Amino acid sequence: MKADLPLSRRSFLRTSGIAASWVMAKMPLSLVDGLKIVRDNSNAIIEPLRERATRKGLLYGAAASFTQLRNDAPFRSHYTKECGILVPEFELKWSTLRPSKTVFNFKLSDWLLSFAQSNAMLFRGHTLVWHEDLPEWFHKTANKTNTQSLMEKHITTVVGHYAGKVHSWDVVNEPILPWQGQPGGLRNTPWLKFLGPEYIKTAFHIAAEADPKAILVLNQNHLEYENDGASACRKALLALLEKLTASKTPIHALGTQAHLIGNNRSLDHRKYCTFLNDVASLGLKIIVTELDVSDQHLPYNIPRRDSIVAETYSDFLTAVLQEPALIAILTWGLSDKYTWLSRYAPRADGFPVRPLLLDTQYQRKLAWTAVSGAFEKK
Ligand code: G3I
Repeated sequence: MKADLPLSRRSFLRTSGIAASWVMAKMPLSLVDGLKIVRDNSNAIIEPLRERATRKGLLYGAAASFTQLRNDAPFRSHYTKECGILVPEFELKWSTLRPSKTVFNFKLSDWLLSFAQSNAMLFRGHTLVWHEDLPEWFHKTANKTNTQSLMEKHITTVVGHYAGKVHSWDVVNEPILPWQGQPGGLRNTPWLKFLGPEYIKTAFHIAAEADPKAILVLNQNHLEYENDGASACRKALLALLEKLTASKTPIHALGTQAHLIGNNRSLDHRKYCTFLNDVASLGLKIIVTELDVSDQHLPYNIPRRDSIVAETYSDFLTAVLQEPALIAILTWGLSDKYTWLSRYAPRADGFPVRPLLLDTQYQRKLAWTAVSGAFEKK
């Protein structure tokens, strides 16, 4: 049995980035700073995130796509080991589900549901009403008179198709954008344009009718940091949630997306925790729905970059794990090989981004250690 690592070795591991990831992945270690390792005869097995989260009374999972899980066997194996809940990155959006006004194509999302079920994972739906990823035919045909029936048909058919099989649905995604100047800080979307502010309440009622068992979620971005935009978002969102709960809308949880920026030191724990607590006081649960940390503007040096990303995960989780209403944490992807940030927040130096918990070879990074360590903290 390898002796416990000396303290100096542990601090070396913590600060040496890539060396730490390499060493942790290769060496059977008995104990490294909060990583409890269950030893077997041949290799050390580092307990996966889904089990660590469960011990904390939480769910851990990640967004993934049909192509990634069906075509990439090594990714599939790491994904099933680490994740206890699956959310499709694209396959439940209008652009995939609705090739035409009359056709619903559940082929890919059905495959993902059965993949989740056969790997003892829960399944979450993302997303029913959003301003992005709407197919061309929607933009060409939607108007004041038909949008209500378009929304009703979509939600009833999709939620009904998966009734009883979905842990939670992002019913309305990103409805708040105060700096557009709309009343209530609502984002200017086709839904608001054709249906007015009531579209949000209506969407939740239709979803609840179609699946009374699913947790119904309002999913929002731009909530975490301390800047004019985020505080305006939190203020407008809280007012909206107060109105929805006061009018007995069947909404059960807030999804806070948590797309974080490495080195952004403006997460004010007290203000963010107060906001989450105010939301919880309305009787709502909290789900961290799309956690990742962009390293777009971080130094090239990989050990340095990885440790800043890890510190950002750790800092955020230290705050959010204080909220008793928190029920799940999902990262928006599991491996750097598959992250939307490669396209949406690429590095100026052209080097691959490293925002997630596993690197492109599925080795656990310091970010993985940060998340697993956060689950271990009492
Ligand atoms: O699959 C097609 C491919 O066949 C085609 O050649 C290519 C041409 O551009 O497009 C591919 O589809 C792209 C899809 O990602 C798969 O890569 C879409 O264009 C692209 O718009 C889509 O972007 C996704 C975006 O949502 C819009 O759906 C991102 O990957 C996805 O990470 C992002 O996720 C959103 C959440 O749903 C909501 N919160 C914010 C988050 C990040 O924007």
